[in-house]
Amino acid sequence: MHYGSDRPAILPHDPFKAIVAPRPIGWIGTLNAEGIPNLAPYSFFMPLGNNPHMIGFTSEGMKHSPANAQAQGEFTFSLATEPLSHAMNVSSGAHPDGANEFALAGLTEGTPVEIRTPFVAESPAALECVTVSVEPLKDRHGRALNRFLVIGEVVRTHIRDEYIREGRFDTAAAAPLARLGYRDYATTDSLWELARPDD
Ligand SMILES: Cc1cc2nc3c(=O)[nH]c(=O)nc-3n(C[C@H](O)[C@H](O)[C@H](O)COP(=O)(O)O)c2cc1C
Repeated sequence: MHYGSDRPAILPHDPFKAIVAPRPIGWIGTLNAEGIPNLAPYSFFMPLGNNPHMIGFTSEGMKHSPANAQAQGEFTFSLATEPLSHAMNVSSGAHPDGANEFALAGLTEGTPVEIRTPFVAESPAALECVTVSVEPLKDRHGRALNRFLVIGEVVRTHIRDEYIREGRFDTAAAAPLARLGYRDYATTDSLWELARPDD
């Protein structure tokens, strides 16, 4: 089977997100104009490189997270994990500006060092970011889409001590949540290693 914009009836739901999967979830903390924290998950999310560490997420429309990240010049990433999946889901609700999803989801606001925006203290790891750009995306014809790519540079990394084992971050113990298609999620709770040819 193959198709373009003419997705066949046998696929009633777009499988795009089930194919490009699993995706990490950027659990994004921001502050609104009054300094009230906002928290929401974004799975159109990616690490964008090292030195400096950069991350990015895409919002379908100018939602609170991109608007706040642009206006305040900063945001946080918290690692969404299986034990925190319910709280992550609560934070995805269409809450009004100023609702403080940290409180609504029963989460503790972790204290940032370099910026003002809190992160999820219960999360095994979190990143403080300074906003580098908020760009509207265009389609292949150059037409502006109502979609915004937020890029941030990581300025401080938080790791809860119990997740550091033999000098490494213990990803399997953290059990990060990944987003697939439809309403599906996956958990990373086992790892395997593959040495490179030139190791
Ligand atoms: C796991 C998950 C991933 C999501 N990923 C995105 C995404 O990548 N882009 C987006 O615009 N909305 C995404 N959403 C929906 C937003 O979280 C939702 O619209 C939220 O209310 C936005 O909050 P905000 O306006 O406070 O930023 C996702 C929801 C869930 C549950």
